[in-house]
Amino acid sequence: MQFSKKDIDAMPSRYRAHFVNSLSGYKSANLVGTTDTQGRHNLAIVSSVVHLGAHPPLIAMIMRPDVVERHTLANIRETGWFTLNQVNHRFWQAAHQTSAKYDRCESEFNAVGLEPEFIGECPAPFVKESLAKYAVKLVREQVIEENGTILLVGAIEHGVVCDEALCSDGHIDLNAIETVAVTGLDGYHLGSRLGRLSYAQPNTWPTKLDE
Ligand SMILES: Cc1cc2nc3c(=O)[nH]c(=O)nc-3n(C[C@H](O)[C@H](O)[C@H](O)COP(=O)(O)O)c2cc1C
Repeated sequence: MQFSKKDIDAMPSRYRAHFVNSLSGYKSANLVGTTDTQGRHNLAIVSSVVHLGAHPPLIAMIMRPDVVERHTLANIRETGWFTLNQVNHRFWQAAHQTSAKYDRCESEFNAVGLEPEFIGECPAPFVKESLAKYAVKLVREQVIEENGTILLVGAIEHGVVCDEALCSDGHIDLNAIETVAVTGLDGYHLGSRLGRLSYAQPNTWPTKLDE
């Protein structure tokens, strides 16, 4: 089937959201941990996290438009910090449940049964059950004029990766810790490893790296 821009615009809104969200493929499933200045914790699932660069280590995260109460965004603005915690197969349903609209004074950690953990100078809570996670300091906020979403650029200040997943060259084996990926608004997946390949060069076909 093919869809013109007009067809996409004419789709019922929920159908369009599922359809367009699925087009950009598998995304990472993360729990973003934050706190406000009164020490109230918040946890929310986000899939729009992308790598911006490794030196300096930067990530970007897209937040929905600031037109209703957004606890994660408000907390990040208040404290300047958040944590990103990879979701794994042991708590993917709890992770999904954090997207429910909980009251600001109710911690999603309690509501879904996950444990907050504090590491280093970051005031925002990590998710204890996550096996790959990092602390992020907000460096820039930019509104995307076309739809009102908010791009947050953050500096990675501290990383925590379980030994089992860390390879000798710095690669993190997400399969080993059964990290979960998201498609659309509600599809959850486990990765199926195909392998790692040598650095690509013109006129040479990449070879499989020893594991
Ligand atoms: C699979 C999935 C992915 C999501 N990704 C994002 C995202 O990237 N950005 C965002 O702002 N909200 C995202 N959401 C919605 C938030 O989880 C939801 O709005 C949550 O209630 C925010 O909570 P808060 O008000 O406590 O910050 C996603 C929800 C689901 C189920």
